[in-house]
Formats: sequence, structure tokens, C-alpha cells
Amino acid sequence: MDQLNQLIDQAKKDFASCSKLAELDHIKSKFLGKSGPITEAMKSLASLSPEEKPKKGAEINQVKKQIEVLLEARKQEISNLELNEKLEKEKIDVTLPSRSKMKGSLHPVMNTIDEISTIFHGIGFDVADGPEIEDDFHNFTALNIPESHPARAMHDTFYVNKEYVLRTHTSPVQIRYMENNTPPIQIISPGRVYRVDSDATHSPMFHQVEGLVINEDVNFTNLKGVVQSFLQSFFEDENLTIRFRPSYFPFTEPSAEIDMSWNDGWLEIGGCGMVHPNVLKHVNINPEMYQGFAFGLGVERLTMLKYGINDLRHFFNHDLRFLEQFK
Ligand code: PHE
Repeated sequence: MDQLNQLIDQAKKDFASCSKLAELDHIKSKFLGKSGPITEAMKSLASLSPEEKPKKGAEINQVKKQIEVLLEARKQEISNLELNEKLEKEKIDVTLPSRSKMKGSLHPVMNTIDEISTIFHGIGFDVADGPEIEDDFHNFTALNIPESHPARAMHDTFYVNKEYVLRTHTSPVQIRYMENNTPPIQIISPGRVYRVDSDATHSPMFHQVEGLVINEDVNFTNLKGVVQSFLQSFFEDENLTIRFRPSYFPFTEPSAEIDMSWNDGWLEIGGCGMVHPNVLKHVNINPEMYQGFAFGLGVERLTMLKYGINDLRHFFNHDLRFLEQFK
């Protein structure tokens, strides 16, 4: 009997010193398991006399029950402790101010493209789009730059393979548009272009916007008027003027560089000209019936001038301190 009662004291102590549910299971088997003292005591009943058996059996059962009750109580205690600990640890302070969400914004170059498109939309131009991986025909041949023509060297081309290039200008969009539409045509084609070039004023990827107008009666004066009024709107300066300097592009004839008035001087801002008859022939437009003009402007350059940015590389370094200024 004493031995059995000691077992209860021992169990009390052991349960109390345990603070993990998983460990408690382990201790439980020490007392109530198959080779534990209770099971052993039950086995020993066999050697007792028939009178002693029920008395001793009842005692053992009593002790077993008590140990089970102690175990259950401790189990309850431990799980309460664990729950409280968890609640304490995972406490949410609802009075804490929330972290503000980072708001994204359009890249300044995209903003400029949007602005340019809006201005040209207002004077009846559609916005056309085309692939950035372009075939040799659309990027060069159709634009009156046949193979081995020295003008190909002007473009520092990225070749994908013999037949495909990363477009070096957005002029191929004009070819594609003329292949699929008949005059009158009035489009701009803004987008990414690629050239093997990299320094403070050149990036291997940059953006151009080109304009194309094809109609029965289109002349150089119209070209100058369109470009000038666009630049006046874009820079919000109705006194802005432009001048043309003679130049050469294979796809226009005559061709000119566009300079605009800037801080008491002139600044080169793009190229332009009357669409070369060979270009029209490549897209089955009769050059006897139709003429056209085209111009090309650099989007980064326009953006730099408008916001006083001094290094082209700011656009592509994804530095938030720069980009956040254009929100
Ligand atoms: N496509 C020319 C270039 O990238 C620019 C241009 C466009 C010139 C249209 C004249 C007319 O250099």
C-alpha cells in the first residue's frame, strides 16, 4: 500500500515539473505504461490468495485512477499555459499606425509618350505600334536602305540573326502601317528602339516618336507647321520656333535636321523630310498621286529638356529618388 501511495506522490512531482504536453505523454507511460509499476502490481495479484485479491485489486485501481486524474489536471494546466503564452506572443497592437503603401507611378519617359500621343491625337493623328524585333525588309530595305548601303552603318544595329534585328528606329512601323492602310494617313509611332551605343547621351535602348502623313497634297510647309505646333504645345511655349537644316536620310528627300529655339540658341531635336518615292513604291502607294512627310524625335531628349535632366542614364538606373519626382 505504501509503495503504491508513494507512486502517487512521485507522479504528482513528476507531472508538476513537466511543462510540455509532449513530455507529459512520456512521463505518463512511466507510471501507466505496459512495464510500469501499476501494470506490474496488477500482474502480481496472481500470486495472492483469493481473499486478498479483490482488496489489493481495488487498491491498485484506486491509485491508477488518482494518477489518471492528476495527469488530466496537469494536462489542462499545461495547455492553458501554452495558450496564454501564444496569445501573449502573438498580440496585435491595433492602435499601431499602418505602414503606408508604396504607390507606383509611370516612368517619366512613358509620361512623355502619353503627352505626345495626346497632343497628336488632338490634331487628328492615330497612334501606331509595331514589333521591336524587326525583319531586315521593314527596318532597312523598304525604307530605301538596300543591303550594303552605307546608311546601314549609321545605325549600329543589334542583329538577332541574319534576317532579324532589334529595330533601330520606329520607321518600320510606318512601313507596316502603309502596307495595311490606304492614304490619307496620319500617324505617330512612339516606342523603344535599339542601337549599339552607350554613354551619358546615348543608351543602347531608347525611345523615339515618329510621325507620318501621306495625302494627295502634302508639302514641306505642312511638315514644318506640324512639328512646330507640336513642340509649342509640348513645351507650353507659343513663341518657340524651329528651323530646318539640310540633311540626309535615305527614306526622305529632301531631308532636314530639326532645330528648335532654346535659351537664345538652337538645339537639334530630330530629323525629318518628304517621304522618298522609293519608300512609297515599296508599299504600293503611287508616288505620282501621293506625297508624304515624316519626322522623328527622341523621347528621352524631349523629356530631359522639359524637366532639366542632365544625364540620360538617370532614366534607366531605376533610382527611386529620381523616379519619385515624376509622380
Ligand atoms: N528614323 C530616323 C532615325 O532614326 C529619324 C527620321 C524619321 C528622320 C523620319 C526623318 C524622318 O534616325
